[in-house]
Amino acid sequence: MEVLVKCKVLVSLALYLGAAILGAGALVAQPAAPPAKPVPAWMNASLSPDQRADLVLKEMTLDEKIAMLHGVGMPTYDKLTIENAASNRGVGYCVGVPRLGIPGIDMSDAAYGVRSSGENGRYSTALPSGVAAASSWDTEAAYEYGRLIGTELRAQGFNMALGGGVNLTREPRNGRTFEYMGEDPVLAGTLIARLIEGVQSAHVIGDIKHYALNDQESGRLYYDAQISKRAARESDLLAFEIGVTRGNPAAVMCSYNRVNGDFACQNRWLLTDVLKKDWKFPGFVVSDWGGTHSTEKASFAGLDHEEHSRVFYEKKYKEAVEAGRIPSSEMDEHVHRILRAMFAVGIIDNPRQRFVVDPFAGLDVARRIEESSIVLLKNDRFVLPLDSARLKTIAVIGAHADVGMISGGGSAQVDPVGGNAIKPFGKGPSNWQDEIWFRTSPLKAIEARAPQSKVVYDSGEDPARAAGVARSADVAIVFAYQWESEGMDLPTLSLPHDQDALIAAVARANPRTVVVLETGSPVTMPWVEAPSSILDVWYAGSDGANALGNVLFGSVNPSGKLVNTFPRSEADLPHPALRMPPPEMENFDGAAAPEKWADGLPAFPVVYDEGLKVGYKWFDAEQKPVLFPFGFGLSYTTYAYSGLKVARDAQSGLILATFTVSNTGNRAGTEIAEVYAALPAAAQEPPKRLVGFTRVTLNPGEKKTVTVSIEPKFLSIFDEKMDGWTLLPGVYTLKAGGSSDKLPLQTTLDLH
Ligand code: BGC
Repeated sequence: MEVLVKCKVLVSLALYLGAAILGAGALVAQPAAPPAKPVPAWMNASLSPDQRADLVLKEMTLDEKIAMLHGVGMPTYDKLTIENAASNRGVGYCVGVPRLGIPGIDMSDAAYGVRSSGENGRYSTALPSGVAAASSWDTEAAYEYGRLIGTELRAQGFNMALGGGVNLTREPRNGRTFEYMGEDPVLAGTLIARLIEGVQSAHVIGDIKHYALNDQESGRLYYDAQISKRAARESDLLAFEIGVTRGNPAAVMCSYNRVNGDFACQNRWLLTDVLKKDWKFPGFVVSDWGGTHSTEKASFAGLDHEEHSRVFYEKKYKEAVEAGRIPSSEMDEHVHRILRAMFAVGIIDNPRQRFVVDPFAGLDVARRIEESSIVLLKNDRFVLPLDSARLKTIAVIGAHADVGMISGGGSAQVDPVGGNAIKPFGKGPSNWQDEIWFRTSPLKAIEARAPQSKVVYDSGEDPARAAGVARSADVAIVFAYQWESEGMDLPTLSLPHDQDALIAAVARANPRTVVVLETGSPVTMPWVEAPSSILDVWYAGSDGANALGNVLFGSVNPSGKLVNTFPRSEADLPHPALRMPPPEMENFDGAAAPEKWADGLPAFPVVYDEGLKVGYKWFDAEQKPVLFPFGFGLSYTTYAYSGLKVARDAQSGLILATFTVSNTGNRAGTEIAEVYAALPAAAQEPPKRLVGFTRVTLNPGEKKTVTVSIEPKFLSIFDEKMDGWTLLPGVYTLKAGGSSDKLPLQTTLDLH
């Protein structure tokens, strides 16, 4: 034994000395460096993304290709596995091909900020929600919004954003209205395109969702949206068309619901005929989580990637390829699209690199966007802006305005920094459908701007007590909210928790009452006549209170305009009641068990028989008066419009509308100028449609001439027989002004 130990020591010593001698030798004469690994041909950035994808594809085995076609669960909630270990624990992960240097695609929800940051102990900025940002009608703000999200995703190690929600507001009670961009396809499509460009500028794959007609949450997993092709193409699909063709998202998320009979994720008309052929979409289609329902059918229809499950696009897919039921060329096309997307957005050339974001820069962006998103709906007797020097007492009432502001829930939820502002105060990751209030306190923002005033807070729980507080103040600011989330719809458009009674009581007690609404959808206002002022601040994001403070006290002049019509009553909507699934479907959880899906599920038709008449187009056509129209929003100054001229530019084919906007008040401000068109009668369209818009910033007394360019498609109709867009000959009336119901300029354009 002892001999053995000695031998071992001697051998080790010899090895050590040998190594030392070799090491010393290395100091004298460097051995030749190992030959450099050849750079793979697909890393040649001068080749096109398609060429590069093809080069990778040639090297991949069947198993590697299949692995790229499906997710590996939801790493956020799943146990650590070999497959998800390389992920950043977001909601989805597509494994890469490490031996070829192809990274995984690491996905996080990111509607108004990075969702799963609490999970990772990371910070992320909550921007104002989608409907808020849309209310700014600001394409550059949309880009900045996307860029911030892309940058923060990248900082946390993700390389794909799940955001880009652009479903139109056909059903204003939809619980996801706050995530989307309103009821008009031209506005929503234009904004989402810029937002996606912003996301992808940070080398993060952007998506657009939920394709398509996923316009309510009730029965969303299986309802059948029934609609004519023309109505679909001119409304909801037009928003996607603009978003896809202008914004070039690398991914499109198909939705849970059916469209005219087929599930969206296996609907060949949607995925191949329209998206991939007509719009020439070169990226990949990813199913909503658990939204894949078949193998051969979905693959043929054009679904490229199954998330988050692997029920249909793993073993079953491989079997189908091996048995020749799916041609390998079809499988290759799906893989090609995914690889191409990675090259096109630059996630291979610019590998993920974690870094720390600047939270103050994020807050600044969130605040500025919110400032331009707030919509001033009413302002009698110029009660706003407030002059702090004249206010001895300010009453702040209701909606937890002492501690925070509400946010939108579901997969869009951004974890609150510092935890929920109200009970339960949990820090870190928030639970599904927790009602989360961000720690941005309107009360503190108001106190900071009115240092000489006495600011009194009342919770608003007892309307009579709140009215008493309001009565003895110089001005009362009453907050009201309506919380929304994915996975539910609003039962009604009325404010919940008796807030109507609270507002009415406060406004009766003090004629100088300012109502601040924190909402996602339009709300009805039985008390609308009573308060002097009404603002909608939407879900205002991480720094909402400062944005609101700046608007209340006038250092920012409000400029936002409504992107959804506020009806007088739900009875005036195309569908006065929300369409609810049949009772036997109530407890059906298809997402949890996608293998249980079959086309034979009970039908739940949601018939969109209002067709082309979405939002203001419905109210116009039916001549129903509204509470506040689409495109409406006041300012602390006033504007005038003059001199509309319209011409067709021979070279570009664009229609150019030129007119002058003047600031006729005594404050600088930004006006959103809107251009609408009435089509010739033969088109059989609603009375008018938005065809363009611009923002113009003006000092008091200043005037500017602006030109809005209009794509001919925006004046066209979709002809089902031709299966294409057509610009009918005839006389078009173009109108310009500051709200859909107030268009002082009008001229005609003869397109014979
Ligand atoms: C939602 C998507 C989301 C996905 C992943 C689904 O339930 O509809 O919008 O991106 O979950 O969280």
